[in-house]
Amino acid sequence: MQDKRSLHNIIFIILSTLIITIFHYFTTANRWDIHEFLRRLYYIPIIVSAFRFRLKGGLLSSIVISLLYAPHLLLPYVVSFGHGDITILNQFLEIIMFITIGTTTGFLVESDYKKKKMLELQIKRLTDLENYTQNILDSMTNVLIAVNRHFKLQSINKEGRRLFQLKDSFIGTGLDNILIEYERLEEILSDVLLKNKKILNRELRFTLKSGQEIYVKLIAYPLYNILDEVEGVVVVLEDISKIRKLEKQIRRAEKLSAVGELASGIAHEIRNPLGIIKTISQTINSEIRDEEIKEGLEIIIHEVNRANTVIKGLLDFAKPYVHQKKYHSLDKLISEVLLITDKYIQQHHVEVNYASKEDRIILLDVDKLKQAFINIIFNAVQAMPEGGSLDINLSIHNDITKISFKDTGKGISKDVIEKIFEPFYTTKDTGTGLGLAITHRIIEEHNGCIEVDSKLGEGTRINIYLPIEEKGVKND
Ligand SMILES: Nc1ncnc2c1ncn2[C@@H]1O[C@H](COP(=O)(O)OP(=O)(O)OP(=O)(O)O)[C@@H](O)[C@H]1O
Ligand SMILES: [Mg+2]
Repeated sequence: MQDKRSLHNIIFIILSTLIITIFHYFTTANRWDIHEFLRRLYYIPIIVSAFRFRLKGGLLSSIVISLLYAPHLLLPYVVSFGHGDITILNQFLEIIMFITIGTTTGFLVESDYKKKKMLELQIKRLTDLENYTQNILDSMTNVLIAVNRHFKLQSINKEGRRLFQLKDSFIGTGLDNILIEYERLEEILSDVLLKNKKILNRELRFTLKSGQEIYVKLIAYPLYNILDEVEGVVVVLEDISKIRKLEKQIRRAEKLSAVGELASGIAHEIRNPLGIIKTISQTINSEIRDEEIKEGLEIIIHEVNRANTVIKGLLDFAKPYVHQKKYHSLDKLISEVLLITDKYIQQHHVEVNYASKEDRIILLDVDKLKQAFINIIFNAVQAMPEGGSLDINLSIHNDITKISFKDTGKGISKDVIEKIFEPFYTTKDTGTGLGLAITHRIIEEHNGCIEVDSKLGEGTRINIYLPIEEKGVKND
């Protein structure tokens, strides 16, 4: 575009110079008035050239035009006007004017051009710097927020926009746009503003506008303007939710294994005397005729049986499982589990929807994993006394298999969720509270993990993640 314009200008300058020169040379020498007019026309290509090509354009065109015009110095010798010397002087002065006008205009345009270039360079440097700073902020894995004195958002980096799911029009809006408990954050930031102090690594829990709960480490410090006045606050948030979750899982696993060891020791000790009580009660029961004593003995035997069920559960919970592992299809395993639980599910008017997007043949303990899934399905069915639906999904994400069980049952409250994996924690009259403790243990023995998400009155989703120790792939 620029080149095309330059070419047009060059053509115009050359053509106009040529045309004026041709006219000059074809005009008879005694038409002095026309010569005067044509001579002045030369200023047009000189000025255009100076404007377009600056100093070098002005200088070059004025020199070329001066050379083209130079033969006119001899004109008075060809035609006598009677004032020969003055005319020569005029012609000569005109040539000097050509060069002066070309040089001065070129020089002025040149300095103007340099100033413009300098300004452009500075603007480019500033934009580069701004982009560079923005890139640094956007590359951060922490959230960075800047707010003004009235806690209105001024800037949020990419990670923050992702976490808070913000659209572009957040600037100038309040913190209520990103957090439910925004007042708590405003309180903390007022401290920074009023006392002009920094807050370092304060651990907090927030609920996002989307309802998601996050644990963060917060750093906040005053934001100064160029006059060194506090203009707002800069907040850096490090999302430590994953670390908190992992810590929780580790604590839970440690607690469960300690309880497991203790429980298995006690269970062994109790099983033997219980066995003796049961055998003696059965022997006496078969020999005695007194109905009242017989009834009492039957109660004893029934209760011993019940205690034995609890002990069996305890031993299941404490037993190591790893030695039974073999390669098995997960899809097949879930189908087998659904076959076993089918009657129970139907009796409780629950509709099961099972979908497997992909299958994997992985190393697992078939019986134990079946037991884990059955415990989850039983819990789901028991949470839907009026019936409902249970969606089971099998999918693969980054070499991890995910099996999710989602029911439409009564859900679990937040404080109860914390306890459901503890042995003997139950909210049911007839429950032992060992189902999920055993399930947790089994999943752990498979190097997997278990995740619960529930809303009271809406339902519960249990996700199980198992790593793939792959043998083969079977797509459906
Ligand atoms: N899908 C679910 N919906 C609602 N509550 C659940 C669900 N799964 C588990 N729970 C809660 O977790 C508690 C513990 O479950 P867990 O399976 O360990 O024991 P239980 O079902 O009470 O007894 P058991 O499994 O020994 O019969 C339950 O009592 C129940 O309150
Ligand atoms: Mg249960």
